[in-house]
Amino acid sequence: MKVALVTGAGDRSIGAATAGALRARGFRVLTTTRSCPITADHHPLDLADAGSVARLAAWVPERLDLLVNNAGIHLDLRSRWTEPQLVDGHEVHWRTNYLGTAQLTRLLLDNLLESGDARVVNVVSKLHDRGRNEWLVAPVAPYDSWAAYGTSKLALVHEAAEIERRYGGVGVHGYSLHPGSVYTRIADRGLETAPVLGRLRRLAAPIERRTLLTPEVGARTTVFCATSPDARPGGYHRREAPAEPSADAQDAAVAAKLWDETSAWTASLLT
Ligand SMILES: NC(=O)c1ccc[n+]([C@@H]2O[C@H](COP(=O)([O-])OP(=O)(O)OC[C@H]3O[C@@H](n4cnc5c(N)ncnc54)[C@H](OP(=O)(O)O)[C@@H]3O)[C@@H](O)[C@H]2O)c1
Repeated sequence: MKVALVTGAGDRSIGAATAGALRARGFRVLTTTRSCPITADHHPLDLADAGSVARLAAWVPERLDLLVNNAGIHLDLRSRWTEPQLVDGHEVHWRTNYLGTAQLTRLLLDNLLESGDARVVNVVSKLHDRGRNEWLVAPVAPYDSWAAYGTSKLALVHEAAEIERRYGGVGVHGYSLHPGSVYTRIADRGLETAPVLGRLRRLAAPIERRTLLTPEVGARTTVFCATSPDARPGGYHRREAPAEPSADAQDAAVAAKLWDETSAWTASLLT
């Protein structure tokens, strides 16, 4: 039985729907949320905590056939922050969405190589086009949380392409995708500091539910990247098909440099 790990499979999330769809296709699916108890198939993960990432990686079986890097945050939906919120000295979206995911992926590379035919699927966003390559190496300036979120997702598009270039030949393939605009709890979290707006949003929930995709539909492109022979190794996808990412995301030299610099950072966590 093929083994998959899907991060961020909380209630009503795209990750939970992805896990369900993969189970229906015969995978054994391991999932994470930030606070689930440890069971045979569930383990807690906080991407912003290097120790938590390492504990999850140590728990994963020796052979892993599919890693779905789905967990992610988009805080400050109202663009109220004028300064970055820092975790470990890094901007919170960069630290959580990119650095934590990159650490997990590197720690699981041997497990993926053991498969002989593995996929790493990074759930990004069309908003990766709000990021810029210059902000991969320097702070987003002037600070804007949407640009910071976009830059964290741009880095994950680069990461998927670079996995393909470095490991495709030895059986580990990288993919990235935009899931669509999906009705999940991501906006609840982004409005946590705005209780009035949060209440208004709950009142408008029936309308939002009608206009946005369900998590099950949102999971389709992830499942396409995870299983389809028509998914493009190294590529970005939308609506269950290969698609063109932003111009910045297509710069292979930037992706290679980012990989090396990120690997140096993850190695420094061990010292
Ligand atoms: N919804 C959309 O329209 C949309 C559009 C484009 C891209 N995306 C991307 O799709 C992915 C899934 O989002 P979603 O809409 O399903 O959001 P969601 O309902 O908020 O689910 C996100 C999941 O990520 C987990 N998570 C949050 N912070 C974490 C951390 N520090 N460490 C580890 N896990 C963490 C959450 O854990 P808990 O369960 O413990 O809270 C949750 O299970 C994200 O990467 C998001 O950026 C979503």
